[in-house]
Amino acid sequence: MTALELIIDLHKNSERQGPGSEKETLKALELINPPPDQKLKVADIGCGSGGQTITLAKNINGQIIAVDLFPEFLEELNKKSRELELANKIITLVKSMDDLPFGKEEFDIIWSEGAIYNIGFASGIKKWKDYLKVGGYLAVSELTWITDSRPKEIEDFWKREYPEVDTASNKIKLLEDEDYSLVGYFYLTQDSWIENYYKPLEARFEAFLKRHEDSELARKIVNDHKAEIDLYLKYKDYYSYGFYIAQKN
Ligand SMILES: C[S@@+](CC[C@H](N)C(=O)[O-])C[C@H]1O[C@@H](n2cnc3c(N)ncnc32)[C@H](O)[C@@H]1O
Repeated sequence: MTALELIIDLHKNSERQGPGSEKETLKALELINPPPDQKLKVADIGCGSGGQTITLAKNINGQIIAVDLFPEFLEELNKKSRELELANKIITLVKSMDDLPFGKEEFDIIWSEGAIYNIGFASGIKKWKDYLKVGGYLAVSELTWITDSRPKEIEDFWKREYPEVDTASNKIKLLEDEDYSLVGYFYLTQDSWIENYYKPLEARFEAFLKRHEDSELARKIVNDHKAEIDLYLKYKDYYSYGFYIAQKN
């Protein structure tokens, strides 16, 4: 198995592939406050196994196209949506977020939790705007500094790993420059990282290593994830995912 196949295997049987929570998905949706009688067309981009897709499907009137690059995650989502009798509301699509087959002004809402970094925030908000109706909403979560300054170690780490990491005010400026109006902003709680993402991830390490006969590559992947968790625990007061809800003008 390649490193990518192993990473997918480590992550696919989980509620989520990144920090977040049902409560925060609903908080973002409440900021949009869609009228209950309006049938919405929603795209959930980089949906993973669909933690937030299921929450959206339970709480909106309409249909969600859930997109991810990896079919393994979408198979999990399809399984869950059938079990919960939500399959009529969720259509899954294997596609890259920089090459979407969507039409101009097709969607009422574009949702993306912890995934836009794959093409970069600036590029994503620009590209995806074409698919949104005028007056439609973008709801994205994105790595964000939550203090004005921070220790050099964490600043250097994230600048290297994701050069677009920035403060909320600079992200909001990017949204406004692309002709969106900010509707709301908040950042994810530490529980969304620790309880909802890192603890369940750590609980899967042992079985994952066993499945892959403790191979060198599997051990490296576990160690890389442990280093990411340690870094978060050390510097959790300095960064989070900011949740940005904006309306296309
Ligand atoms: C950190 S996970 C977040 C998943 C999910 N939204 C959540 O919050 O649990 C990022 C997701 O982006 C997907 N992804 C990565 N590159 C992608 C691409 N180019 N196009 C579409 N999805 C991509 C990954 O497969 C993964 O499911």
